Amino acid sequence: MTELNDKRVFVTGSASGIGRAIAELFIANGARVVISDINEDAATTTASEIGAAGVANCDVTDEAQVQAAIAQGVEILGGLDVLVNNAGIEVSSPLLEQSTESFDKIYAVNVRGPFLAMKAAIGPLIESKGNIVNISSVAGVGGSPLLGSYCATKAALIQLTRVAAVEMRPTGVRVNAVCPGFADTKMVDRLIPDFEAATEVPFGDLIAAKQGRLGTPQDIAEVVSFLASDRASWITGSHYILDGGLTA
Ligand code: NAI
Repeated sequence: MTELNDKRVFVTGSASGIGRAIAELFIANGARVVISDINEDAATTTASEIGAAGVANCDVTDEAQVQAAIAQGVEILGGLDVLVNNAGIEVSSPLLEQSTESFDKIYAVNVRGPFLAMKAAIGPLIESKGNIVNISSVAGVGGSPLLGSYCATKAALIQLTRVAAVEMRPTGVRVNAVCPGFADTKMVDRLIPDFEAATEVPFGDLIAAKQGRLGTPQDIAEVVSFLASDRASWITGSHYILDGGLTA
């Protein structure tokens, strides 16, 4: 018996990075997981490499695709116990130089996406008294130069988490968020050149000084696994900062 035995789980953006690590750890902890991503080839590869129960892809910004993918996931799994809203994108730009199109795009993926997925999944989650874990960021609790719109989307996701938790309390559905610091994924690889140009400090030195080391996707997955498990049955409406002391 492991902590997620037989839990039926849908993870968005799980072809790579933190989402993949969450799916992998959940499977190791006994869950059955459906992989979902906008990158269909990578999703298929990941699902077969980690032994997922299936694949149900969508672009999280598209309501019809999200509804169809979650319905397909519920079909594959025979119900749903856990939704992890992990899909997200970054934009690196001084806030007031960012184009309106780019601002709308990051909101569509990071805020509209989790909203659509929560709406699509809530029926099956109410049936199972399941739970939702939203992947926010320390950028949602503190400001960071170059990440203005990203910070705003991740703060919005914390608020969606809180309100959904309060509204869903009578149903038994729990809703929580995690707020990682810098973790070792392609997203951070893409950010490094802009951060180094802006601070004139090697990124490795910045990380060593501020958070000891880069987080690993597994560091994040461990806490998500706990929050999704029955061991966290009294935890709802919370957001957990996982950042090696970056914001301490
Ligand atoms: P990543 O860029 O390595 O992976 C993101 C995954 O989401 C990719 O597989 C991508 O194809 C998928 N995706 C992107 N847009 C999508 C869309 N419209 N619909 C469906 N899937 C889509 O990113 P990473 O680092 O694994 O990030 C995962 C989550 O963790 C994101 O929400 C990110 O904001 C958050 N996060 C990451 C941190 C980090 O340091 N890497 C720190 C704090 C939060």
